Amino acid sequence: MDTEAGLGSPPHVPGTERPVPEAEPGLVARWQAGGGQLVELLSQVRERIGGVAAFRLGPNPTVLVTDPGAVQHVLARHPDRYVKRSHRARLLVGDGVLSATGEAWQRQRRLLQSQFTGTGMRRYDRRITEAARTTAERWESYARTGQTFDVGQEMHRFALDAIWRSLTGHSLDDGTERELAAVSAVGAALPTLPADVTDAEAAVAADLARIDAVALRAIEAARGGEAGPDGPGLLHILIDAGTERPEYTDRLIRDELVTLLAAGHETTATTLTWLHLLLDRHPTAREQALAAGEAGSAQRREAIRALVHETLRLYPSAWVLPRHAAEDDTLAGYTVKAGTDVLVCPYLTHRDPELWPDPEHFDPRRFTAPGGRPTHPGAYFPFGIGPRACLGLQFALRESTVLLEHLLPAHTPAFAATPARARYGITVRPDGPSPATLKPPLA
Ligand code: HEM
Repeated sequence: MDTEAGLGSPPHVPGTERPVPEAEPGLVARWQAGGGQLVELLSQVRERIGGVAAFRLGPNPTVLVTDPGAVQHVLARHPDRYVKRSHRARLLVGDGVLSATGEAWQRQRRLLQSQFTGTGMRRYDRRITEAARTTAERWESYARTGQTFDVGQEMHRFALDAIWRSLTGHSLDDGTERELAAVSAVGAALPTLPADVTDAEAAVAADLARIDAVALRAIEAARGGEAGPDGPGLLHILIDAGTERPEYTDRLIRDELVTLLAAGHETTATTLTWLHLLLDRHPTAREQALAAGEAGSAQRREAIRALVHETLRLYPSAWVLPRHAAEDDTLAGYTVKAGTDVLVCPYLTHRDPELWPDPEHFDPRRFTAPGGRPTHPGAYFPFGIGPRACLGLQFALRESTVLLEHLLPAHTPAFAATPARARYGITVRPDGPSPATLKPPLA
C-alpha cells in the first residue's frame, strides 16, 4: 500500500495506475482567449480535476501538483525522478547552485549550506541588523519630513543591502544599487525571452554586462584583502575555496554571487511588501503581534515570525516550482511519463480550503495556536522541501524578523494607493507601486 497518498486521496493499490485526469481542452482555450494570468488557469484546473491534474498547452500534457502527498513525492521523496531544468535562469545565474545539477550541485550546495545554517549563519546576524538599522533610520527621516516613499522599493533596498553586506562585508552604496537593478531586470525578463539562447542573450546583453562588471569588481576587491569592517563576507569563502578546488574559477564565483543576489533579495523584498500591504488591511494582526511581548522578547519574535509565515502562505514568492519527469513514475496512483513537465504549486496548496479553513483570510494565529495549521510537510512549503529546498530559509526569516522588529513598533505606513492585483511571474508580486507616508514621531 502506498503511504504517500495525499490527504483525502484514496490509497494507491499497485497495478491500478491510470493516466492523470485531464482538464477539457475548452477550459484551456477559453483561458487563452481571455488572456488571463497562468494562476487563473491553474486554479481552474485544480478546482475541476483535483490535487494531481493534467492540462495541455501544447501537444504534451503538463501535470499540476497541489496535493500535499504528491508534493512530497515529487520534491522530497523522488527528486531524482523530477528534476530541475533551469535553461532560462542559467542565462543570469550560470552554473550557480540554483541551476547546477548532479555532483557539481552537491559540492556547491555543501559549501554554501555551512554558511547558511548554525554558526555560519550567526556570522551574518550583525550585517542583517546593520541593514535593518539603516532602513529604520531612513524611515525615521521619512516620518520627520512627511515625504512620500514607496514601500516596495524600500523593502527591495533593504533585502539587497542585507545580502550584499553578507556577501561582500560592505554596505550597499547608491551606485552599486543602481547597477544591481540589472539583476531584477534580467530576472523579470526571463519568462518572456526568446527560446533561442543566442537571441535571449542578445536581448539582455547590456544588463548582463553590467552585472558581470559589478561581480568582477566585488571579486577583485575581496581578493585584494579588503574584508570590510565586519570581517570577511561569503564571497571571501568562495574565493578561499578556489585556492584548493580548481572548479571555483572566477566564472563560478561570479555565478554563485549572482545566484545569491538574485535568489536572495527579490523573494524577501516581495514578501515584506505583501506583509505591509496585508497589515494595512488587517491592523489588528499588527496590534496582536506587538502585544505578544516586550521588544526583544521571544514572544514578540515568534508573533512577528507568524506574520511572515502567514504572508508566505498567501503569497509564497516562488509560487510555482517547475520540474521535469526524468523517468516514468507513478504519482498518487497516476502514471507520469518521462518527459512530462510538472508544476508544483505552493500558492494553490496554501489556499486549499480542505487544508486551510477560510484560506483567503489573513490570520497569523494559524502559526502560533496549537493545531492551527496542517503539519503535513507538503501542506505548507514556501521555501520548497527536499534536497533543493531554499538555501536561504534561515537568512530570509532572520532578516524579515529583524527588520520588522525595528519598523513595526515605530511606524505604520499610510498608503496613498495600493496595487489592486498581483502579478504572477517568476515571483508573485504586487502589480504596481505602493506609495506611503509615515506619521511624525510623537514629541
Ligand atoms: C522569503 C524569501 C524566500 C523564499 C520564499 C524562497 C523560496 C525558495 C524556494 C521555494 C526554493 C526552491 C525552489 C525549487 O524547489 O524549485 C528556493 C531555492 C533557493 N533559494 Fe530561496 N527563498 C527565499 C529567500 C532566499 C534567500 C535570502 C537566499 C539566499 C541568501 C535564497 C537562496 C536560494 C538558493 C540558492 C536556492 C537554490 C537551492 C538549490 O537549488 O539547491 N533564498 N528558495
